[in-house]
Amino acid sequence: MGRIYLVAGVPGVGKTTVINGVMEQVKREGLKVKHVVFGDFMLKLALERKLVKHRDEIRKLPLDLQRELQVKAAEEIAKIAKEYDVLLDTHCLIKTREGFWPGLPERVLRLLKLDKIFLIEADPKDIAARRLGDKARERDLEAEEEIKEHQLMNRLSALVYAVFTGASVNVIRNEQGKVNEAVKAMLELIRKGG
Ligand code: AP5
Repeated sequence: MGRIYLVAGVPGVGKTTVINGVMEQVKREGLKVKHVVFGDFMLKLALERKLVKHRDEIRKLPLDLQRELQVKAAEEIAKIAKEYDVLLDTHCLIKTREGFWPGLPERVLRLLKLDKIFLIEADPKDIAARRLGDKARERDLEAEEEIKEHQLMNRLSALVYAVFTGASVNVIRNEQGKVNEAVKAMLELIRKGG
């Protein structure tokens, strides 16, 4: 079984950007690591069933449907984790119409044995600006206070996941214009193993 490194953070904080930097380095080193985007698996399943047209609609689906897609996605990802170490690009909490909802409820945690949890964080003001600058996405408009609250809730949920799995929690700051520092910090923790 490969290791699963959970990488989470509020939408637009730069998870994918940081993971891409980490992947460049681990590929150079010839390590067998895959970047797996949880949302891509959910989107593929939702598109097949004609439930959504794009990824930003997933979190607006009724919760029972999201739950079904979530478990199916986790089952597919668990197969990949049998062969590879996985950097799992996902969310500790999804902000749904019904409130904060766990990205890794018990059923998913049983399928995906977490090794480390990386929480990518940044200044809420920078996150709001990054979201506005990302024209390819239909991001929900959130005030800085709401982004701050979401980051705090993510920390709390990450600790709950750690209690269930024994994984460690590491906060990685992705400061404005300093992606390389975040990449370096994450690589160091991955190399430490354990
Ligand atoms: P997902 O695919 O994860 O989309 P997202 O949440 O909208 O987040 P992104 O991945 O697009 O943003 P990011 O944080 O990676 O930022 P990026 O690197 O692009 O999820 C899609 C959907 O799937 C979810 O909404 C949910 O419905 C569902 N889902 C996923 N996991 C689930 C689960 N476990 N259970 C249930 N549902 C689930 O960067 C953004 C911008 O910032 C870019 O323009 C970038 O250039 C810029 N930037 C990044 N870092 C910096 C920096 N340091 N300085 C300046 N600019 C920066």
